[in-house]
Amino acid sequence: MRSSMKKSRFIFLLSGEAVETAAQEVKSLFEIAGGSCRIVIQNGFILVAESDLRPETVKLLCGRSAEIRLACELKAKIESSSLKTISNIDFSFVQSPFCVRVKDFRSEKESTESAEERLASVVWMALQDLGRTPAVDLSHPRTTIYFILAGEHVYVSNFIWKQAKGEFVGRAPSEKPRFHPTSLVPKLARLIVNLSRAKTGELLLDPFCGVGSILIEGLIAGANVFGVDFDKTKPKDADANINAYRRLYKHKNYKLKTWDATKLEKLFKPNSIDAIATDPPYGRSSVVSAKNINELYEKFLKSTHKVLKKEKYLAMIRPDNLKLKIDSKKWKKVHESELYVHASLTRKILVLQKR
Ligand SMILES: C[S@@+](CC[C@H](N)C(=O)[O-])C[C@H]1O[C@@H](n2cnc3c(N)ncnc32)[C@H](O)[C@@H]1O
Repeated sequence: MRSSMKKSRFIFLLSGEAVETAAQEVKSLFEIAGGSCRIVIQNGFILVAESDLRPETVKLLCGRSAEIRLACELKAKIESSSLKTISNIDFSFVQSPFCVRVKDFRSEKESTESAEERLASVVWMALQDLGRTPAVDLSHPRTTIYFILAGEHVYVSNFIWKQAKGEFVGRAPSEKPRFHPTSLVPKLARLIVNLSRAKTGELLLDPFCGVGSILIEGLIAGANVFGVDFDKTKPKDADANINAYRRLYKHKNYKLKTWDATKLEKLFKPNSIDAIATDPPYGRSSVVSAKNINELYEKFLKSTHKVLKKEKYLAMIRPDNLKLKIDSKKWKKVHESELYVHASLTRKILVLQKR
């Protein structure tokens, strides 16, 4: 059925911090919407994916992303040398009034303003050739055409979505009512939520919830969330933090409990959790209920496996130096990438799917 549906190509500009993981986030978001996703080009910050999803759905997905800065529907890819003769591009998708924007990633660039003006006049003429009466409006265009110039290529595309400035502002660990030094920055917390493929209305569990950064981003993404932490002060802190951002949730469905992440099967029914997103302890100081950090992770993985639904995902951050045994009969490793925190601290993002 799906293969007969019309496929479109989408171009994404990704934020620079975690390019590899950002591609994985794009895949996860398409999967969340039940769409196909084939990565066609990944070139630094630029990612092109082919999918049967409609641009309206892609726009909705981008709204919950951490790493996508700009999303457009790709209309043509040409050599930059042929930029002056782009008359063969089909601009029939353009509705007037239109607006041209340029993102230039080449080392030698002309000023954005003059490039936008020059390309707008090319589009103008192309529209006239189509028998249209063109009009430009920079503030309220019906179509915004993005020309993305990178290396030898120009990607001509129809704007879908842009990340709002300040999307994650106001939720830094230090800005939350209850602070903890190991608390995640909101963008990373959102990334982990998305990699867990938690859908709207599904139950997302964070078994090491701390002061609740992942739970907050899960609620903003529309999931129902459950946080547990062994330290009995943490669920109270998470509660205060979750409530501080209640204006950002459509539904505020959450539960918190003091509990041990290695004994989840005593709290939840087997195969009952839709997604797990978590950031377990990194060092000895915070290890409880296990001899050492390796044992904690092993016990946690076993316990998690019992409560997570089949084929659902666990996304987590883990210390780089951890010797983590993953039972390949129980888990499929979907993704692993390095996450640079600072010169002396590298962590990994790991995504497992329950077999
Ligand atoms: C790295 S912190 C999590 C930080 C959290 N992501 C945040 O943003 O606040 C790890 C948390 O795991 C908790 N913890 C340690 N051992 C635990 C266990 N066996 N079960 C549940 N929580 C545990 C600690 O109390 C700590 O709050």
